[in-house]
Amino acid sequence: MNRLKIAAGNWKMNKNFGEGLALTQALVAGSEDTGNLMILGTPYIHLQTVGGLISNSNHIKLAAQNCHQNLKGAYTGEISISMLQSVGVEYVILGHSERRQYFDEGNALLAEKVNTVLEGGLLPIFCCGEALPIREAGTHVEFVAKQLKESLFHLSAEDFSKIVIAYEPIWAIGTGVTASPAQAQEMHQAIRALLAEKYGNEIADATSILYGGSVKPANAKDLFSQPDVDGGLVGGASLKPDDFIAIYNSF
Ligand code: 13P
Repeated sequence: MNRLKIAAGNWKMNKNFGEGLALTQALVAGSEDTGNLMILGTPYIHLQTVGGLISNSNHIKLAAQNCHQNLKGAYTGEISISMLQSVGVEYVILGHSERRQYFDEGNALLAEKVNTVLEGGLLPIFCCGEALPIREAGTHVEFVAKQLKESLFHLSAEDFSKIVIAYEPIWAIGTGVTASPAQAQEMHQAIRALLAEKYGNEIADATSILYGGSVKPANAKDLFSQPDVDGGLVGGASLKPDDFIAIYNSF
């Protein structure tokens, strides 16, 4: 399979400016281009400077953690897609469960944000994933399918081919409890089958589907060796250079 393998870091609301630059410098110095991508999802204030630090590293790309659905205007405290684009951001994380939970972002709003990111020429990393009660009820595959259908399935095939999907079961985020490789594979395979049904095998096979939720150096290899797991979206372990480099080298 020739789809992109990706280790994406989501720093969330961590690292002040100096700490973020030190982390970036350590990642640049400690990683080599293996043909796989490393993506750094930094806070907004870091983006421009981190972009400069990674500009000679072909394998490291820049991501924002959110953006506003409207193009500009009176939205105090928000950030627009053209602002992100103007400092060299290539990817935008959308629909993280923390944005859904704490900022009330639902599937319809996320569909708007996906459109805005694509129209701005950037690439969405679209997050999906179920909470524990849904998994315990056994309806996790249907739940995730609904998230994808309602936020992404209005896209043309051409636009859809720019999407990276991140499956992040909420019960595994920041908890130290990782989905087992078999649980991740089950969901990723189901997602790919859904994509094949909607967009055909070629696009489904080319779509990178990342797993997120307590990915660490100790479990990354087992997760990434699953046939439908194309990498990880990493929170806590992306804040430690040695750990994140080890995860990047786990394909
Ligand atoms: P942790 O790796 O800290 O569990 O966070 C996962 C995550 O939410 C990445 O977006």
